[in-house]
Amino acid sequence: MTMEIRPLSDALGAEALGVDLADLDEAGFARLRQALVEHCVLVVRDQASLTPEAHIGFTRRFGEPAVHVKTEFNLPEHPEVLVLSNRKKPDGSPIGFEEAGRYWHSDVSYGDEPVMASLLLAVDIPPKGGDTLYCNMYRAYDSLSDAMKQRIDGRKAVHSYLVGLTGKTAAGAKRVSLSDEQKASLKDTAHPIVRTHPETGRKALFVNPGFTFRLEDEDEETGKALLADLFEHAARPENVYRHIWRPHDLVMWDNRCTMHHATPYDPQYTRHMHRTTVKGDRPV
Ligand code: SIN
Repeated sequence: MTMEIRPLSDALGAEALGVDLADLDEAGFARLRQALVEHCVLVVRDQASLTPEAHIGFTRRFGEPAVHVKTEFNLPEHPEVLVLSNRKKPDGSPIGFEEAGRYWHSDVSYGDEPVMASLLLAVDIPPKGGDTLYCNMYRAYDSLSDAMKQRIDGRKAVHSYLVGLTGKTAAGAKRVSLSDEQKASLKDTAHPIVRTHPETGRKALFVNPGFTFRLEDEDEETGKALLADLFEHAARPENVYRHIWRPHDLVMWDNRCTMHHATPYDPQYTRHMHRTTVKGDRPV
């Protein structure tokens, strides 16, 4: 197979054709990794034969897979794979996150060391809807006014999963409940509002309405307006690529320079996705 990589939009994103992720040599992997760093989102088409084992195996080539805190939504035999799905168990209970990420966010930004990349496989998709939006956070930073850049330079904002359990997030989302043990494994974390990507050296805005809820050293109300301005600025259409899923797309994205946003679909259809993530480092 001959690999081809084509940009998908002016904002970010590229697609790779002619790739079998379960059978990829070192040179092919290096090319995909480079394309991911360059385009921030990489769509690999036609991965119908990617089993959970192969999905995890491919993920491992980037680094150690992370395990999501909502453990009952991970595949029982493969805890590295998180299920995002509206399928139900025979008793009617969910098998995965039904409405995962329907707000702008960067995966696990509430962690001390947020995941660097996510790899989402479309196992079953609805005939329409359920698209995923991606936002280029380099462009979001670059296009800020000099005054705003000075205002946020060196400052930190606090990210939290828990805030979505007890109240509404800035995005208006309410998260599914966690056990006491799961909650105890989480804490709020402050990260720089602007992070420097460890591989490209470029600056990217690193706040998102899904998890970032206040500025460090300030009460929630004081920082709200500034954060709201940053969220609105980032998600302008010129910074966004809308991914309309095709069956068996595997989409990977770099959480260090993007945010993403799942969109609704008609629940009479099935949307069943498998997600892995790769452990990352502390933002600086
Ligand atoms: C996610 O936030 O990781 C899920 C995105 C999607 O299901 O489209």
